[in-house]
Amino acid sequence: MALRLGDIAPDFTADTTDGTITFHQWLGDSWGILFSHPADYTPVCTTELGATAKLKTEFAKRNVKVAAVSVDPIESHRGWVGDINETQCTTVNFPIIADSQRVVATAYDMIHPNADDKATVRSVFVIGPDKKIKLTLTYPASTGRNFLELIRVIDSLQLTAKFRVATPADWKDGEDCIITPAVKDAEAETLFPKGMRKVKPYLRYTPQPNK
Ligand code: BEZ
Repeated sequence: MALRLGDIAPDFTADTTDGTITFHQWLGDSWGILFSHPADYTPVCTTELGATAKLKTEFAKRNVKVAAVSVDPIESHRGWVGDINETQCTTVNFPIIADSQRVVATAYDMIHPNADDKATVRSVFVIGPDKKIKLTLTYPASTGRNFLELIRVIDSLQLTAKFRVATPADWKDGEDCIITPAVKDAEAETLFPKGMRKVKPYLRYTPQPNK
């Protein structure tokens, strides 16, 4: 069965371009992003891994470790990394898992046979420090993902893990948040000393609590 939000992210041991990792141990107390790409030496994947490498500082600021995975072997990954670095003007700075035996792809249900029975689709799993899955995304092979969107979601996840708020459509770090429905108005005054803007009884905004 497909993994769902709140499930424990399956643990595994795998060869990567940074050596062998045991996933949960490698994650430690960090947040994690595990994302699959269909194949090495393909154009969209090349740009995606380059974009991810360029966001190293942003991921580090948020205590996020990133790992990519495909069913191609380690020698292929190593050769391709040279091309990514050259063409995307960066240095790949995260492990790429060689999943030739499809251990990771199977555990995370990354092969969707009606789309492609050999390659992984573009899956993304955001994993919390509790090893639970916080977000899943599935994109087709022909559409590169937006890695700034992943940063935005992680900002929201980290914020909403600490404060009783949710984040509205297109929210970005620093913008007003929504007070969660379970918080009573009277309680909101104490929880959100920066104030509350009540548009409807169920639609109440407050400035971002940790800014
Ligand atoms: C790509 O990464 O460019 C790609 C991979 C598989 C199918 C189509 C595009």
